[in-house]
Amino acid sequence: MTHAMTGTLITFEGIDGSGKTTQARDVLDVLMQRGYPVTLSREPGATPLGGVVRNLLLSEDLTIGSMAELFLFLADRSEHVEQVLRPRLSTGQIVLVDRFTDATTAYQGYGMKHPLETLESLHRMILGKIVPAKTYLLDISPEKALERVRSRAEKKTRIEERGLAFFSRVREGYLEIARKNPQRICILDATLPREEISRRILKDLANILPHPS
Ligand SMILES: Nc1ncnc2c1ncn2[C@@H]1O[C@H](COP(=O)(O)OP(=O)(O)OP(=O)(O)O)[C@@H](O)[C@H]1O
Ligand SMILES: [Mg+2]
Repeated sequence: MTHAMTGTLITFEGIDGSGKTTQARDVLDVLMQRGYPVTLSREPGATPLGGVVRNLLLSEDLTIGSMAELFLFLADRSEHVEQVLRPRLSTGQIVLVDRFTDATTAYQGYGMKHPLETLESLHRMILGKIVPAKTYLLDISPEKALERVRSRAEKKTRIEERGLAFFSRVREGYLEIARKNPQRICILDATLPREEISRRILKDLANILPHPS
């Protein structure tokens, strides 16, 4: 038996505007202050290919079909796993990731209706033995999330582009994934104050993180 994966992968999930980036950064800051070997990464766009893929996905001049979109996300993830996550985890780091596999299951599976079993097999191919130790799901209604991102965005938000019905399916999808993985996924009320959410995440993380050396 090998002990190659000594690090800890922690993921942040939730619909657009739920507060993933805010929480991932707040938790990163605290863990760094406490002396943990911790880094933050995100999807899509954490590798050279990922950067190109991110620009394609966000491009306004391109129409991308839902199948092509799925494979672009997976191409990004595959590079992210091989070039960023596997090396960092094998040296014992804690890696926080802003969106990961559950986002694909929620958006492309529950939202766009690609078959869930297919997504699972593709993820097995891409991930091998890499699995998040813990996932924080920031749960919020699409209506409230839209209010938040509207004040941030100058142009039409993704919620407005794809519609509230789509985001309701994605939210319900995330909750269903959490019901199927109760050990791994911790559901948090994303409408709580920012500090309260981080406090809960850090309290939960204390159960799985070793003391910093
Ligand atoms: N707990 C909170 N209460 C109120 N507002 C919040 C809270 N957390 C984050 N926000 C605000 O909501 C907006 C969205 O937050 P953030 O960018 O962290 O979400 P996100 O999930 O990363 O969104 P995206 O999926 O678009 O990247 C920001 O303006 C942020 O300041
Ligand atoms: Mg974000």
